[in-house]
Amino acid sequence: MCDTNLITLNTWLLREEHSKLINRVEFANLMSGIALACKITSNAIKRAGFEQLFGLAGVTNVHSEDVKKLDIVANDAFKTALKSTREVFCMVSEEEESIIPVPEHQSGQFVITFDPLDGSSNLDANVSVGSIFAIWPKVSTDSNFSDKDVLRPGRQMYAAGYALYGSATMLVLTLGNGVFGFTLDYTVGEFVLTHADMKIKPRGSIYSINEGNSVFWEKATAEYVNSIKSGSSGRAPYSSRYIGSMVSDVHRTLLYGGIFMYPGDTKSPNGKLRYLYEVAPLSFIVEQAGGKSSDGKQPCLDIVPKTIHQRNPVFMGSSHDVTDLESFHKK
Ligand code: AHG
Ligand code: MN
Ligand code: MN
Ligand code: MN
Repeated sequence: MCDTNLITLNTWLLREEHSKLINRVEFANLMSGIALACKITSNAIKRAGFEQLFGLAGVTNVHSEDVKKLDIVANDAFKTALKSTREVFCMVSEEEESIIPVPEHQSGQFVITFDPLDGSSNLDANVSVGSIFAIWPKVSTDSNFSDKDVLRPGRQMYAAGYALYGSATMLVLTLGNGVFGFTLDYTVGEFVLTHADMKIKPRGSIYSINEGNSVFWEKATAEYVNSIKSGSSGRAPYSSRYIGSMVSDVHRTLLYGGIFMYPGDTKSPNGKLRYLYEVAPLSFIVEQAGGKSSDGKQPCLDIVPKTIHQRNPVFMGSSHDVTDLESFHKK
């Protein structure tokens, strides 16, 4: 007897509590496109060994990164699946230098900013990676997009989420009313609700940062990290966990508590992570789970990016831990 009262992503989106959502049906259709792109990406990663999909594509992107073959597979999957929903007005991808137009006959009302494959340097080692997306209402009233559709504070996001291609494939989503986790059930090919209303604890005992950059850290970052490593904060020394895939490090922070940091430093004053498709969507998720996300001085969601690939320092996680961090940066 199969369990027929599974709450799938689609049935969850169409439930009564979302009846207040504007354009609920169009949004559910959009999310079916995003879910399809995530399933295609998950499958490509699992088959990479058989289909020679590991390794480099032999090109670099706008960030001068060596693009992986799977970066391109994921990017193509997201662009095609999103256009096919006919719900998208324009898109921004980590892997595309400028705003991606949508043909007029397929144009819709949502703007999507996405990182098709996050943590791709980990792929060949079979370490967990993810995809990140943010969903915004369009601003332009005519059929031509402009910068005002994309250069806006994260507070204007309609929804945000990520897929995590780990031991299980999950899709974690917020519509601005809590955070909900769905796990891919391969037997039916559906994302099924498994984590309702995820909350992050107010204080954790794990810190997550690339200590290989410590020689470049600002004094405030170095003093904060020392305070949690040495126990001088008055609490037992924190454990260190760093995977090098933002989605994996933030997902663990969401579930176990603590703080994830990618600070600005003397080598990279704005840090490494990009605002529109890494910092903003994951900040929305963390805030919606009861945590905090700051650039050291202000909430990341209040920042207005000046360019579509703008980088931003980010400290996100348990609210008390991020507040402690800010106290060092505000001194
Ligand atoms: P992407 O693979 O989308 O380019 O992102 C990689 C990012 C992020 O996933 C991770 O937190 C960070 O790079 C790790 O950077 P370092 O290797 O410099 O620590
Ligand atoms: Mn990249
Ligand atoms: Mn990324
Ligand atoms: Mn990426």
